[in-house]
Amino acid sequence: MKMRSIHDQWSSRLAFILAATGSAVGLGNIWKFPYMAGQNGGGAFVLIYLACIFLIGIPIMIAEVMLGRRARQNPINAMATLAEQENRNPGWKLIGWSGTLAGFIIFSFYSVISGWTLYYVYLSLNHGFSSLSMEESQSLFQKMVENPYGLITCHTLFAGMTLGVVALGIQNGLERAVKVLMPGLLLLLLLLLGYSMSYGSFGETLRFLFQPDWNHLSEQSVLAAMGQAFFTLSLASGAIMVYGSYLPSDTSIPRTCIIVALSDTSIALLSGLVIFPIVFAQGMTPASGPGLIFQTLPVAFGAMPGGQWFAFLFFILFVFAAWTSSISMVEPGVSWLAENHGWTRPRASVMIGFGGWLVGLGTVFSFNLWQEFTILGKTFFECLDYLTSNLMLPLGGMAIAIFACWKLSTNSTRNELNLPDSYEFNLWRWVTGILAPFSVLLVCLNSLGVF
Ligand code: PFF
Repeated sequence: MKMRSIHDQWSSRLAFILAATGSAVGLGNIWKFPYMAGQNGGGAFVLIYLACIFLIGIPIMIAEVMLGRRARQNPINAMATLAEQENRNPGWKLIGWSGTLAGFIIFSFYSVISGWTLYYVYLSLNHGFSSLSMEESQSLFQKMVENPYGLITCHTLFAGMTLGVVALGIQNGLERAVKVLMPGLLLLLLLLLGYSMSYGSFGETLRFLFQPDWNHLSEQSVLAAMGQAFFTLSLASGAIMVYGSYLPSDTSIPRTCIIVALSDTSIALLSGLVIFPIVFAQGMTPASGPGLIFQTLPVAFGAMPGGQWFAFLFFILFVFAAWTSSISMVEPGVSWLAENHGWTRPRASVMIGFGGWLVGLGTVFSFNLWQEFTILGKTFFECLDYLTSNLMLPLGGMAIAIFACWKLSTNSTRNELNLPDSYEFNLWRWVTGILAPFSVLLVCLNSLGVF
């Protein structure tokens, strides 16, 4: 039995691929992946990360899209309906609540960090970073985060950009935005790659990213790579499930998810190929951590011919990537308000946007006014980041895998995935239902400090 859609749909498979890739590609690819690879031994980390994407990320993504499309409703209703239909405990709907809430929480801090990228677009035009020293760069960054008014302005702008698109709806808003932004992003990335290949240390980068140095790989790096795979594919945050619920019925879910995951992975690797040649050319260390993009790169830009334009393009690209991700974080909440409470999309978007903006002020202040205010040694921002990335996403992902494989009737699943070949179906079921939850359990125990 197919369920009737109670809401809008993507106009085509390509629209879904662009939107889901837009959700997946974001700060996680351009900001986090390069610095994590830098800190965890380059090639060895990259290999483990790829293994996690293929063995855990893709199978869970297929499960999540499948659940969304099977129910054709926002994640909260989807899980409630599926649990009821399959005569399962109503508690399974917590998957929908946890995903929607995780998306909302991530949006609150993602908007603040994305606001920094807006500020750096402005800086690249205004300041140009010409002959910038490392101390000057650090002080530029420090000055930015110490000024709550500036951060609030950028955060407000970014939240407004996001909600503006979401308010317009699926085909008029989300689809139109990703159709322009995603090809734009790829074009900018290729342009920047050309620049890095000509002016940076490309050979050294290839060795660094693709020649595994197993000595640098610790148990911690393996687990970090797994967590990164979750975040980068936007799993268990409602985003992928709600996007799946707009997917046309005749589209192959496994094939589409593989394309999305491959695109996301290629963009993460391309980002590494753009960033590291500059880092190496300037004799900087690849292991400098989260400051890599905001503090290190401007110094490199400032020292290179045409660096001001390179910097401008780079931060514009960064804004595009963050924008298409943040749209997907609020969509589950907005569609829930619209479908369950009969609100118009613009009204629902304003409410969710305002709520996220308000919670985001906590993140703004954790870099300045509330810097000293910590819970268990973590600032407000760090608490939210920890709560989502280390707990909600992995646990949600594990629950999605278990529900899809063991609680949904095999017929519904096989029907929705359209996998008549039993070998392929069983392989997916084994990897998703056993291997993935077990691996996720390891991540959770580690992040809770059990080992
Ligand atoms: N995948 C995004 C990134 O790599 O930046 C982050 C993200 C997007 C997480 C959407 C959760 C989400 F719902």
